[in-house]
Amino acid sequence: MPTWLSISTSPLFRFALALLVLGLLRLALLSIWEMIQAVRRAGDRRIAFRRVVGETASWMVPLTRIHRARGLFSIASFILHLGILATCLFLGNHLDILQANFGVSWPALAKPVLDVLTLLGIAAGSYLLLFRIYVVSSRKLSNPMDYLLLVMILGLLVSGYLAGQPWNPIPYDGLMLFHALSGIVLLILIPFTKIAHCILYPLIRMGSEVAWHFPARGGSEAIEVLHGSEGREI
Ligand code: HEM
Repeated sequence: MPTWLSISTSPLFRFALALLVLGLLRLALLSIWEMIQAVRRAGDRRIAFRRVVGETASWMVPLTRIHRARGLFSIASFILHLGILATCLFLGNHLDILQANFGVSWPALAKPVLDVLTLLGIAAGSYLLLFRIYVVSSRKLSNPMDYLLLVMILGLLVSGYLAGQPWNPIPYDGLMLFHALSGIVLLILIPFTKIAHCILYPLIRMGSEVAWHFPARGGSEAIEVLHGSEGREI
């Protein structure tokens, strides 16, 4: 059996997935716990749950919210997310690996559809990488991890795509070893890097709603800090 295939059913792969799930669960629970604490401390505990849920749902598929100033950037980001999610979660080969490890699976998307989404993802990811490199304002806001994650994701999309093509010029087992190992590293990195937004993103709107409900006496205390005892409550 080639090394990459034995890795995909090894304890290393199961460890990476366990770390991913438990790491993301920990982040979600900590955020929810912080919010519960903030609501408990708040002077006004009326939270507009319905509005927040509605806003969160509309941000999950942000087609109507494409950024006007950076339209192409937003579209590229959306396409890259679509490509990654579709291939990670709905590629037959990935689902076979999941089935072999945990006995769970679900219907896959057709390979030609995923091929197209992968190519679109590669184009979109390359655009985002070049944008970070060449647009000064974006470069100033980027740190090495931003580049590293984008390069890793591009490497996964390109190696996975090439491996599935009959004209692939790179030896198959070596290419798949690269794919499987970098995929495992990425799974491990997710909870510890900005990709953790995959679980935290739906909680952001609730977090900012709660954050604006200040603790009882929060206003007067802020006035005291800013203006000393001369501050007057309005
Ligand atoms: C999070 C990380 C990963 C991403 C983003 C990713 C992405 C991809 C993509 C884009 C393809 C090609 C899809 C297509 O064009 O139809 C692919 C194929 C594949 N991936 Fe992954 N992958 C990841 C992790 C893994 C891991 C960890 C393994 C194994 C342990 C793996 C095993 C495979 C296999 C077996 C194929 C099919 C190759 C073929 O067609 O011969 N992937 N992957």
